[in-house]
Amino acid sequence: MCVDVQQDKIDMLNHGQIPIYEPGLKELIDKNVREQRLSFSTDIDSALGECEVVFIGVGTPSGENGEADLSYVESAIDSIVQNMNGYKVIVTKSTVPVGTNRWIHDTIAQRSGSSNFDVVSNPEFLREGSAVHDVFHPDRVVIGYESERAKEIVQDIYKALYIIETPFLFCNYETAELIKYASNAFLATKITFINQVANLCEAVGADVHKVAKGMGMDGRISPKFLHPGPGFGGSCFPKDTRAFVDIGKRVEVDLSLVAEVIASNEKQKLRMVDKLEGLVGAPLEEKRIGILGLAFKAGTDDIRESPALVIIERLLDQGARVIAHDPQAMETAKAHFGDRIAYTDNPYQAMHESDALMILTEWNQYRSLDLAMAKKLMRGNCILDTRNLIDLAKAKGMGFVCEGVGRK
Ligand code: UGA
Repeated sequence: MCVDVQQDKIDMLNHGQIPIYEPGLKELIDKNVREQRLSFSTDIDSALGECEVVFIGVGTPSGENGEADLSYVESAIDSIVQNMNGYKVIVTKSTVPVGTNRWIHDTIAQRSGSSNFDVVSNPEFLREGSAVHDVFHPDRVVIGYESERAKEIVQDIYKALYIIETPFLFCNYETAELIKYASNAFLATKITFINQVANLCEAVGADVHKVAKGMGMDGRISPKFLHPGPGFGGSCFPKDTRAFVDIGKRVEVDLSLVAEVIASNEKQKLRMVDKLEGLVGAPLEEKRIGILGLAFKAGTDDIRESPALVIIERLLDQGARVIAHDPQAMETAKAHFGDRIAYTDNPYQAMHESDALMILTEWNQYRSLDLAMAKKLMRGNCILDTRNLIDLAKAKGMGFVCEGVGRK
């Protein structure tokens, strides 16, 4: 039983529509609804009344100073306290700061007067765009627990994963909470590291993809998350790195490395606009810029903290005119930018009469762009490929002035 406070989303789900774009999710939901294993409702009291295990999966957005805002978790706890009618396991899936699971336990105990429940910390590691695959093929399942009974119940829920020999890691609450933040902060650091190396490659004439490949051949480093680009975005890395630094501040432990990652990532986004200006060789005022890709990564319609937002904002500040295409994120982008930019559902329309083109998201369809067509349609000849999708040598041979990230 899936419960949310947003009636419109629940209505959509009950009509077989998925409120977000996530490959494979519709098929999965349709199948389980059809087989009567899955239902959606806004009636939190009846759902809680009936359930033995409650997963909290609400958002924990950034608060004013980068701390995780726990108000949605608090409101979920309020509802749980009011529906303590028998033994329950409360499983925290939401990414929550160290100390939250213990706080959840103490709050429910105090406010309900009951001790007939347990709390389990069970952080989630799926990625948007490959969420369905990741849920069924996790690298590990982390279970932070204090009671054997609850541990066994949660372990049993995941028993299908034993068949594929998924490792389980059992620990206390604080350890589980930190595994999640430290993992995201490490991945964000890895991306920022390769972005800085990419910038160095540009200065010294090296090819960042070969550098990353050579580094990744060392099993201790691994080639994953070493793709350079316009900076990381999304609903997780930016907010979780900020929250991680905030956790350190609260206990007076230096996490300045992660603070530097956040600052460097902001610079990387703006660096893309400087690179474009360098290619165009003139101020961007009144220039028409075609943008391919708005989502923070391919496979999603999510634009939260997408590098495209900062980049387009800077282009507009400089007086450029922007026309954007994205195969999935057009609606979310329209809600954000309104009529400050133009939109098109055809990538070639974004090139029409453009002085320059910027590729910002690694959608597969941009890998096979017809460059001859681009040449005919564009007024100018500049391409900045921030995801390194196109063949730069070929594009140069056709008369484009173009750059990627980390290779000239
Ligand atoms: C991330 C983590 O990868 C998940 O393990 C975690 O569960 C999730 O956050 C979360 O905390 O909920 P997600 O944000 O969906 O997942 O997507 P990623 O694939 O990690 O990409 C994040 C950003 O990093 C994107 O902007 C992407 O373009 C960028 N990135 C990723 C790079 O620039 N280079 C890379 O090599 C990898």
